[in-house]
Amino acid sequence: MTNRQSRIFAVAATAISALVFLILTVDSHRQFPELTHSQNITPEVTHGKDVWHKYNCINCHTLFGEGAYYAPDLTKITQHRGEAYLTAYMKNPSNFYDEQKHRRLMPTQDLSDKEIHDLIQFLDWVANVDNQGWPPRPILVTGGMVAGSAEGGADPPGAKPVDEGDDPMAKGERLFRTASPACNSCHSTSPGADMAGPTMAGVVGRAQEILDSGDYQGNAADAEGYIRESIVTPSAHLVPGAMYSAEGTSFMPSGYGDSLAEEEVDQLVAYLMTLK
Ligand code: HEC
Ligand code: HEC
Repeated sequence: MTNRQSRIFAVAATAISALVFLILTVDSHRQFPELTHSQNITPEVTHGKDVWHKYNCINCHTLFGEGAYYAPDLTKITQHRGEAYLTAYMKNPSNFYDEQKHRRLMPTQDLSDKEIHDLIQFLDWVANVDNQGWPPRPILVTGGMVAGSAEGGADPPGAKPVDEGDDPMAKGERLFRTASPACNSCHSTSPGADMAGPTMAGVVGRAQEILDSGDYQGNAADAEGYIRESIVTPSAHLVPGAMYSAEGTSFMPSGYGDSLAEEEVDQLVAYLMTLK
């Protein structure tokens, strides 16, 4: 190639790349309203975003992976935690930590009820933006006493499901990670590792103790019934502690009775019944 030819080649290649880039950029912008559900951007959502900036949440957290890496990404937080939990958490994060065990703390920021409500609307809007598969695995926030105890998330995309055969216990173990929201985003199975919900290690023995204690408020007759009731109607009996419930309502999502098939509840119970 002569000098002149290579110059023409370089200019043409640059021009074509720039054109392709421009077309892709325009195309992305064309899709934004649909991917972000822009019709759901209410004044509350906009105000929630202002609150997010006013209190510099981004100095510690990320959204869509952007921000600071001190505290977890909150892009999908409203899919892992209910509104009751998030409201109580933002009112007083210190209820959710044990200063001796937990070193990474979230500051209490004196948010008003309105600010908290709108922040949650904003975070819920964020959670519903179509990120085209990002993050590839759920980012689990520990939210509790022991960090780093979440045992894996849903299967990565494209993974071949393991054939559990007809074993309800193995199916239940899998559902524990894949139900929506995933049980293991709040419950660990390691002894002592209480996250946003109590650990499931020893749940069978604990259930029996609660039934025998005289403080039990629900309708179950045995440990199996207690576990089933905890999944389907979490507020029937509350595990004591300000990080687990407020005003008689459990922070555990109340929708599993509807979203899980009866058979799936049976499988979860079968699995949890092995955690003596
Ligand atoms: C100084 C750093 C810091 C700032 C500022 C901060 N956070 Fe946090 N946040 C944390 C830490 C640390 C955690 C705990 C993570 C863990 O449990 O591992 C956390 C946890 C959370 C959680 C998850 C709770 C759970 O258990 O699921 C939410 C929601 C949250 N923060 C929202 C906010 C919002 C909204 C703001 C702004 C109003 C904010 N944070 C500002 C450090 C911060
Ligand atoms: C958003 C967090 C969260 C999620 C998700 C969640 N739980 Fe819970 N769970 C809790 C909290 C908080 C409690 C304690 C308060 C109460 O008694 O309801 C609890 C209590 C329980 C208990 C009673 C434990 C005991 O020691 O008495 C069982 C059993 C249970 N959950 C099972 C499940 C299963 C199975 C799933 C998934 C299908 C699940 N949870 C999903 C937060 C959660």
